[in-house]
Amino acid sequence: MRGIILKVYFDNAATTKVHPQVFEKMIPFLNEEYGNPSSIHSFGRKVRVAIEEARETAAEFINADPSEIYFVSNGTEANNFPILGIAKTVFSESTKNEIITSTVEHASVLESFEELSKLGFSVKIIDVTNDCVVDQKILQSQISSETSLVSLIHVNNETGAVNNIEKFSEFIRDKDIYLHTDAVQSFGKIDLDVKKMGIDSLSASAHKLHGPKGIGLVYAKAGTPLSPMILGGSQERNRRGGTEFTAGIIGFAEAIQTAKKEMEENFDKVNRLKNYFINGIEQSSLQNYSINCKESPFPFILSLTFNSDYYKNDSEAMLMFLDINGIAASNGAACTSGTLKPSHVIMNMGKSKEDASGTIRFSFSANNTIKEIDYTIEKLELMTKKFRK
Ligand SMILES: Cc1ncc(COP(=O)(O)O)c(C=O)c1O
Repeated sequence: MRGIILKVYFDNAATTKVHPQVFEKMIPFLNEEYGNPSSIHSFGRKVRVAIEEARETAAEFINADPSEIYFVSNGTEANNFPILGIAKTVFSESTKNEIITSTVEHASVLESFEELSKLGFSVKIIDVTNDCVVDQKILQSQISSETSLVSLIHVNNETGAVNNIEKFSEFIRDKDIYLHTDAVQSFGKIDLDVKKMGIDSLSASAHKLHGPKGIGLVYAKAGTPLSPMILGGSQERNRRGGTEFTAGIIGFAEAIQTAKKEMEENFDKVNRLKNYFINGIEQSSLQNYSINCKESPFPFILSLTFNSDYYKNDSEAMLMFLDINGIAASNGAACTSGTLKPSHVIMNMGKSKEDASGTIRFSFSANNTIKEIDYTIEKLELMTKKFRK
């Protein structure tokens, strides 16, 4: 393949290509179906019906009731809203003010906790174990009679590590503590049943599952105390005012429908791709690297760290090298990758800043191919020669 530059997109945890069926379904709602869903005339009513059908699709997908689904603008808001909304409401009703999360959460969770800390909440942030996940005993040891909310990521966006949310909920359930999970990476890729998981709220974002950007959702179990996120409108049952992104909601529902149909097949395909990638790396000339959270059962993310004792790690230069060769990868969370800071997730897993600066995340979709992996490994071999100390 020497000399030929392939275009390889291995940044599907940052965002995915819109599914053609999603695009088709959205077009009428950017065009002739322009009614405001809050209007009482036929233009509006038609759009309202479509939105409520989309809500049913989303609810059914995770075994929830449509009244438990709130459409919001993205995964970031889908974390901000329940974390702030639950913590503040519980505090106003009971004065419980202790909230718990982990060190490897997405910034939208960590910064919600920071905000609550400024408001006087007592924040506990727990470490993950060597398996990259939260340990049940550590979590249990942190919980007290003052704990109102625990928020833990389901599938980590940088490592693919999977927290056993169902297990955590078992001992949280009878303690009057709310459990939120950031399911932005897992939603649409693996089966989610909110009842089985025993959670009170969950976040998801359409653009991670071949839907449009700018639309997310919150599941909040009936009865969950949840103050509004956006004031000034009665939309989303008074909890999230503002005229809905109609085409986005319709696109999200279609992305869910296609994900549902293709989930098993996509998972198996991506699993084969990830295993092929790992085998390929192991048989290549690459040395002095580690695969982070290698045992994770989630195949969509592969995180590689180059050992800084051997390499002049510089994530920006490494990603540029790959980009020049047509390969799109990431150094971690896409939302912060513009700044290319060493990842807090990788460092909180015990790696040095220098190692974190040599960490590259490859994230897959069912659109990727074996040929792309062969090509990428070839380029990684060249990259490591260039960056060797
Ligand atoms: C785990 C996780 N949570 C939240 C978000 C934020 O989602 P959005 O980009 O839709 O705001 C992301 C985005 O990368 C994510 O990976």
